[in-house]
Amino acid sequence: MRIVRAKDYQDMSRKAANIISAQVILNPEAKLGLATGTTPIGAYDQLARWNAKGDCDFAHVQTFNLDEYRGLSHDDPQSYHYFMRDKFFNHINIDLANTHVPDGSNLDAEAACYEYDALVKGVGYVDLQLLGIGNNGHIGFNEPDDHFSKGTHCVDLTESTIKANSRLFEREEDVPRQAYTMGVQTIMMARSILVVANGPKKAQAVYDMIYGPVTPSCPASILQLHTNCTVVADEEALALCPQE
Ligand code: F6R
Repeated sequence: MRIVRAKDYQDMSRKAANIISAQVILNPEAKLGLATGTTPIGAYDQLARWNAKGDCDFAHVQTFNLDEYRGLSHDDPQSYHYFMRDKFFNHINIDLANTHVPDGSNLDAEAACYEYDALVKGVGYVDLQLLGIGNNGHIGFNEPDDHFSKGTHCVDLTESTIKANSRLFEREEDVPRQAYTMGVQTIMMARSILVVANGPKKAQAVYDMIYGPVTPSCPASILQLHTNCTVVADEEALALCPQE
């Protein structure tokens, strides 16, 4: 794993955006795996600014998001479909037809997950997968478990994730209890991985991801086995990690 230390959120966002932009410049038809959540918003803003200046062209890029709440329509402001348009896609020159998010509006979990898996596999998996990390070490919605998951599947969210995500909802009861997520195996098929993390709440998970045992009780720890994984994190998120 390559660890890139950032001073703060802004620095982390810029460094992460640089890595994503390099991927797109090197391969204008890049397939990007994307994440929602608070952490990548700064990187998306930066990329949108570079796009506006003509420095990073998304016209031929395809994107594949990690996850989506089960039961939300694409236009629900709490859905990840909406989030991605609002925070990123509406601000860059991407063709919306080239953007993909698991179909949370399809309540048939088996069909929705099968379709998404076939889609990601059909393009030969992604060139770069952007990931945030949960306070409990989750990646996508792959929560701590006794085994690593494989393809896209439907998960019951843990209490800790429901609590963490409730900040984006009016009431905790409004947080959907299930989601569709790419599996750990699918994530590991990405040719390169970029993890972003900031703030003190992520310090333990970041330490476990980099230095802990590889165990499904910290799903992100499997990234230690990926041959091309970069972690860009700020000082607070790296607070428990030795300065190398
Ligand atoms: C989002 C996702 C999640 C988040 C993680 C961190 O698509 O897959 O794993 O990356 O929960 O969320 P934030 O960035 O809000 O702390």
